[in-house]
Amino acid sequence: MPALDQALRAALTHREPLLAELHSQGTDCYRLFHGSQEGAGGLTLDRYGPQLLVQSFHQSLSREQLLPLAAQCEQALGTALQLVYNDRAQGNSRIDRSDAVYQADAAALSDQIGREWGLNYRVRGRHAGQDPLLFLDLRNARSWVKAHSTGKSVLNLFAYTCGVGLSAAAGGANEVVNLDFAEGNLAVGRENGALNPELPAMQFIQSDYFPAIRQLAGLPINARCGQKLPHYPRLEQRQFDRVFLDPPAWAKSAFGTVDLLRDYQSLLKPAILATAVDGVLICCNNLAKVAMDDWREQVLRCADKLGRPVRDCQVLAPAADFPSSDGQPPLKTLILQF
Ligand SMILES: C[S@@+](CC[C@H](N)C(=O)[O-])C[C@H]1O[C@@H](n2cnc3c(N)ncnc32)[C@H](O)[C@@H]1O
Repeated sequence: MPALDQALRAALTHREPLLAELHSQGTDCYRLFHGSQEGAGGLTLDRYGPQLLVQSFHQSLSREQLLPLAAQCEQALGTALQLVYNDRAQGNSRIDRSDAVYQADAAALSDQIGREWGLNYRVRGRHAGQDPLLFLDLRNARSWVKAHSTGKSVLNLFAYTCGVGLSAAAGGANEVVNLDFAEGNLAVGRENGALNPELPAMQFIQSDYFPAIRQLAGLPINARCGQKLPHYPRLEQRQFDRVFLDPPAWAKSAFGTVDLLRDYQSLLKPAILATAVDGVLICCNNLAKVAMDDWREQVLRCADKLGRPVRDCQVLAPAADFPSSDGQPPLKTLILQF
């Protein structure tokens, strides 16, 4: 497929300065090919340390297509990489392992370590979830947190594998609390902590977002008419100097619905109340169909209505390994200074 080879060649050439910079900073996890913007929608190639993770979301790749792409990446980086191909093009977006092209070497599927700014992260080519264990487009946000957490208390909401928490700990935070309802994700967060033994220990709270953040914010937890709420951990009302809010696009639980398109406010309001006066809330919206301008307006209006006007609002874009021809990357991040 010469067109695909050419598109990858252009992407690798375009990244040369960024990759040189990242390597010099102790980072070996980054996107090598962002198909939707670089000529092959639905195809991504990511480096995670020793591993090359290829993912297709629309059309499956044949072995004849896949192997030359991998060889091209190895040549450009001057290093051998263990190939893992996860085809997510099937109806339920789960990995189809029936074809030989999906079989990776045992070494490639074993636990690996990737690095970002000198920090170690657990890398697994395949695991129980669908997404890789570290979201690469959030690297600039992790960097911001690392640079602005010295001596601060940090609350990492929807923490997943706790990369933001780890960055805060590396940046000298005096307290890091990671919150997520999935014990499996927090378990990887604990592994990430253990892979960086020089850092101070982080805290982990396994809880649904809604009861946890509403308790921290001092808001009541309301059961729906006649329904008994499941158990949730009890937390004291308190505020944090840095609050990081990066929810999934949509998720439903017994306590409420996370819906970034229709109702960002019910996530945002308690997160603002849990942010200290003079604190910073870093909030994200990864839904491509939400435009930055509309979302920013909503966010600022919500803060005003709460009597917590934003003193400064900065936009943080993903790095150049996530190019965006229209300047509207799906992952939008705002840094709100109160
Ligand atoms: C998009 S990931 C967040 C990525 C993360 N911020 C990071 O730094 O990589 C979404 C996370 O939200 C968690 N989650 C979804 N709904 C939740 C809820 N109602 N309460 C708590 N966690 C939830 C999932 O378990 C998952 O770990």
